[in-house]
Amino acid sequence: MHDAWIVKHRPRSAKEVVGNRRAIEIFERWLRSWEHAIPTQRAAFLHGPPGIGKTVIVEALAQDLGAELIERNASDYRTEEKIRQVAGFASQYMGFFGKNRIILLDEMDGVYGTVDRGAIPAITEIIKNTRYPIVLIANDFWNKKFVSFRDKKKFLIIEFKKPSVNDIFKHLKKICVKESLPADDDALRFLAQRSQGDVRSGVNDLQALGQGKKRLLFSDVSWLAYRDRKDVIFSVLRQVLYSKSCKAAKQMVDLADVDIDMLFEWIYENLPYHFNIPSELAAAMEALATADLYRGRIRQTQNWKLMRYVIDFMTAGVAMARRKSKPSGWVPFRFPQRIRTLSTSRAERKKKSEIGKKIKQRMHVSVGVANKDVLPFLKIIFESDPSMAAGLAGWFNFNEEEIIYVAGGKRQANAILSSVAN
Ligand SMILES: Nc1ncnc2c1ncn2[C@@H]1O[C@H](COP(=O)(O)OP(=O)(O)OP(=O)(O)O)[C@@H](O)[C@H]1O
Ligand SMILES: [Mg+2]
Repeated sequence: MHDAWIVKHRPRSAKEVVGNRRAIEIFERWLRSWEHAIPTQRAAFLHGPPGIGKTVIVEALAQDLGAELIERNASDYRTEEKIRQVAGFASQYMGFFGKNRIILLDEMDGVYGTVDRGAIPAITEIIKNTRYPIVLIANDFWNKKFVSFRDKKKFLIIEFKKPSVNDIFKHLKKICVKESLPADDDALRFLAQRSQGDVRSGVNDLQALGQGKKRLLFSDVSWLAYRDRKDVIFSVLRQVLYSKSCKAAKQMVDLADVDIDMLFEWIYENLPYHFNIPSELAAAMEALATADLYRGRIRQTQNWKLMRYVIDFMTAGVAMARRKSKPSGWVPFRFPQRIRTLSTSRAERKKKSEIGKKIKQRMHVSVGVANKDVLPFLKIIFESDPSMAAGLAGWFNFNEEEIIYVAGGKRQANAILSSVAN
């Protein structure tokens, strides 16, 4: 079982926490002020988005200051008894030489606003009389259930912001050093950027993609961008295929900033599965064909003004074809076949180029033509006619692996191979 890197490499001291230097400084100064006297602000409220170090800074500073950290989160103070326990910790005086204490009430977002009416007034009451610093943490400080904490005289309110890409980059780099994982800078920068300020998710991605590798390359992480794009494509597709108005269907394309040719492939691949009334499917296909016609014209004339028509027909044109058509049940989106051939693995590409070379030798065409114009036909034959495929396989001198590739699977390939044997 591997340890989670967010736990293994969490900061043990405040100086290891990246970002929010100023906020941390203010917070630390306030904690230290308790060593002299009880300040008027008896509680600090740290707030900000998830995964940026709010919890971890309290733990790290407790460590730095040699204080005992009493940690509780929302589920712990739903009952009166639990709240009393916290109150006990807050009021029980440990004496002059006793260890310092910090009381942390984390994840306050989880406190119910109304159902747990008791919790917030009780916490407010504890804060009024506490002998030790109380730290509250939440993501959304502006939630109205926290109004009673907005009094700046009584509460030190500190906003935590997302650390910069550069800060996260440095943090990831340090982890790589500790894990003895050499990593390309641009791979780490990419992960840092993608985390969008969430250090926790950046570290999780790093572990998921890097652990066990000899070296983390840009190509190991860059496919994530594609995964993100897929979500975008899906929402555009949903709009194009199901939106009720032309405008919504068109707008989506502008908003999402997707590659038009790529989107065309996605619509083309998926359209047939999302219309169940043949006449409406035909109308949608017709719109797509018209869009394609304009695409062709742009290619010939370089008249990019026509792009507007391409977009209109492939989005609004398709969307408006739907009157009553509704697929029964949920239909998953399918990856366009025509793009799939471009995004296959290196091993597969190598196999494909070997096959291309064998076709070239026999048919005296270039490898490019072999792959583009010949292979698709071979695939159809190999998928549907084992005995003819067997003959061709012999003629091209394909080995078993290559037959499996062209036939698109082992089962079909076996039918061909047994034909060869006969
Ligand atoms: N600023 C940071 N510097 C270094 N590591 C960090 C930082 N922020 C987060 N991490 C890493 O991510 C983990 C989670 O961070 P933490 O629990 O502090 O997030 P949080 O801000 O409290 O999020 P949430 O609002 O979800 O509770 C930490 O244990 C640490 O490994
Ligand atoms: Mg937290």
